[in-house]
Amino acid sequence: MEHQSATNMEKIVSLAKRRGFIFPGSEMYGGLAGTWDYGPMGVELKNNIKQEFWRAMVYSRDDIVGLDASILMNPKVWEASGHTEAFTDPLVECKTCHERFRADHEDEIHAHESEHKKKKEKIEWTEPRKFNLLVEASLGSVEDEKTKVYLRGEITQGVHVNFKNVLNSTRVKIPFGIAQIGKAFRNEITPGNFTFRSREFEQMELQWYVKPDEGEAAKWFDYWKEERKKWYLALGMSKEKLRFREHATDERAHYARAAWDIEYDSPFGGWKEFEGIHHRGDWDLTQHAKHSGADLTYFDEETKSRYIPWVIETSGGVDRAALFFLIDSYREEEDRTVLKLHPKIAPIKVAVFPLLANKEALVSKAREIYKELKPRVVTSWDDRGNIGKRYWAQDEIGTPWCVTVDFQTLEDNTVTVRDRDTMAQERVNVGELVSYFRKKLA
Ligand code: GAP
Repeated sequence: MEHQSATNMEKIVSLAKRRGFIFPGSEMYGGLAGTWDYGPMGVELKNNIKQEFWRAMVYSRDDIVGLDASILMNPKVWEASGHTEAFTDPLVECKTCHERFRADHEDEIHAHESEHKKKKEKIEWTEPRKFNLLVEASLGSVEDEKTKVYLRGEITQGVHVNFKNVLNSTRVKIPFGIAQIGKAFRNEITPGNFTFRSREFEQMELQWYVKPDEGEAAKWFDYWKEERKKWYLALGMSKEKLRFREHATDERAHYARAAWDIEYDSPFGGWKEFEGIHHRGDWDLTQHAKHSGADLTYFDEETKSRYIPWVIETSGGVDRAALFFLIDSYREEEDRTVLKLHPKIAPIKVAVFPLLANKEALVSKAREIYKELKPRVVTSWDDRGNIGKRYWAQDEIGTPWCVTVDFQTLEDNTVTVRDRDTMAQERVNVGELVSYFRKKLA
């Protein structure tokens, strides 16, 4: 079973590259560990995930607004938030070959030790030390006046430093939320497992502000835990592959009073986190109020009281979601490999083919249909090889529907629509195609 999983993972990595989902970053220069580039299919998959997040959080609700804060922030932000001090992982170094590992990643350490054992080499480690994950950069055009800044280690702080701006510019009232999607950077000691642990990645987060009350916080914590799980299930992730896991006290980040992960049963070592739900209490707003001198209290019209709200956070990784959607949808069937991605996140929704690429009447009719569909539903054109090969290629990128223009089309203006999952075909009138697909995608 374990072997089967590893093989599948290799196949998925290979498909991701071959079909334009994910390429190693800076590949032609030997790569850069922990960085990945999303190709034409990957960018669509990721954009669709982000759009669905935004739709669920911002467009479908009255109590959440959006934000897009800067990646670069005044370094004082990271002192206030505790990241310069506490955003660390325990690092150990192998004294024999000087390779570095996370002290809490026991599997990797054992694997490394057995490499040395095989060669009958000494196994000796340094004492664990704290290694800060913030990535440093310098800003400024004059060499010696450069200011040290950090690439944000979580997208969260951009929201909290704008808490007052959002309050003053909108009509939100507690409880309310601010959603954000954006890049974060971490100097991970051992990036790996494909995109799972990268040094540059994207997060999709909600910071949900509530009254400072344990009962209120617990109610919203449970609510958001369930909402986020439902969101993944609604986009087709397999129920039996998801679970919640509560963090032990010593596992929690410095800002968290409670933390639960949503985990996926991955082919690379079992259950792995891809979203966290955290009770951040008043940590962020209190710290920023203290360090900046700003008043970050909220006046509650209902109770006529003033307080610093507490925060319940949902923090998902866009890249991890994309990776687990790919893994979850991957199937090998009799004579095809297929990504059974939910149509809402599939990169291409429809592919249009002429039955024969050398019959002008079929090609021009198919072109006409393609041009009509393309601005309305994400559509691609394919006239390579035979129909079987085109289905095969579309199945591999997860295109839910293929439209074929054949000789009957020229007579009665209908086409065949082939369903990716059932492989069943039905005839649909050309004039009804847009509404046919829109209904399926609704
Ligand atoms: N604001 C809270 C926060 O950042 P986190 O648990 O450190 O919490 C949230 O990160 C999510 O970000 C994770 O569940 C994961 O999906 C994603 N993430 C974190 N580190 C990552 C990495 N090195 N590579 C890819 N995704 C990562």
